[in-house]
Amino acid sequence: GLTQTAKSLPARYFYDDRGSELFEQICELPEYYLTRTEMSILLQYAGEIAQNTSACELVELGSGSSTKTRILLDAYEHLNYPLRYLPIDVSAGILESSAKQLLAAYPSLQVHALASTYELALERLTPTELPSRMICFIGSTLGNLSPQECDVFFSQIQTALNVGEYLLLGIDLQKPKHLLEAAYNDSQGITAAFNLNVLDHLNRRFGGNFDTTQFAHWAFYNESQHQIEMHLRSLRSQTVQLRALDLTVEFETGETILTEISRKFDLNTMRQELSDRGLAPLQIWTDHSQWFGVLLCQLKSAD
Ligand code: AVJ
Repeated sequence: GLTQTAKSLPARYFYDDRGSELFEQICELPEYYLTRTEMSILLQYAGEIAQNTSACELVELGSGSSTKTRILLDAYEHLNYPLRYLPIDVSAGILESSAKQLLAAYPSLQVHALASTYELALERLTPTELPSRMICFIGSTLGNLSPQECDVFFSQIQTALNVGEYLLLGIDLQKPKHLLEAAYNDSQGITAAFNLNVLDHLNRRFGGNFDTTQFAHWAFYNESQHQIEMHLRSLRSQTVQLRALDLTVEFETGETILTEISRKFDLNTMRQELSDRGLAPLQIWTDHSQWFGVLLCQLKSAD
C-alpha cells in the first residue's frame, strides 16, 4: 500500500500489542458509542441467541479482549451447554492474556486460540466436536472491509460453515455525521494515538524510521460512501525507510496514508445481501436509537 500513488495500509496493522491496548481504551471513550451499544444489545438478547443455536462452538474473528464474548459465554453456560471457544486475533499478546482470564473465570471452558489473520484461520478450522458452530464477527469489524472484500469474506464464511451453522454479525449503522465524526476524533486524543501507533508498529516490525511527530491524525465521514475514512497526513515532505523490506517511501507535504475505512451500514440492505448469499438472518436486534445492529444468520445452502 505504501508504494501506491494513493497510499494505504491494511487495518490489521493497527493491532500490535500496543495498538490492541489503545483500542481497549477507545472502547471506553464517551464518544465511542459502538462498544457499549453493542454490549447492551448482547446483554438483552444473548439468551435468545443461545436458545436459537443450542450447544455450539464459538469461533470469534478479531476477539481482542473477549469482553463482549463473556456475555455470550454466560448465556450458553446458563443453559448448561458445553463451552468451547476459538478466539482468533492477529495480536498474540491480547489473545494469550484474555484466554488465560477466561480459563480462570469459566472452569469448564475449552479454549483453542489462534494468532492469525481471519483468512488463514478460517481455512484451518477443523470440524467441531460440538453439534454446531457459530462464527462471531462482532464489533463492526466488517466495516473495515470494502464492498469487494466483503464479498470475498462472505464466501469464506460460507466455505467454513456447514449448512445449518451460524454467523453472528455486529454492525454499526448509519447515523448523523456529527455523532460519527466525534467517535473517531475523541477529545482525549486516544484515536489519534491509535492511528499514529501503526507507524510505530511498522518501525518495530520492519526496521522503519517513521517520525510520528511528522504525521497527523485525520478522520472524517464520507457521506456518499457511508464510511469513516481515517488517514495519517504527512506534515512535511519527507523520506522514510523500511530496512527489512528494502523499501524507501517518499511523502509530499499534506500527502496522506489511508489507514482505515469504517463503513456504516443499512440494516435492510445488509439483510438482503446476507440472504442473497445463503446467510439469511434468523433474527435482527438493535438498540432503541437504532445505532447498532446484531444479526444472527444461518447458512441455508452451500453454493
Ligand atoms: C474495530 C474496526 C470496529 O472502525 O470503529 C476505532 C476500529 N478505528 N477507532 C471502528 C477503530 C478508530 C473500529 N473497528
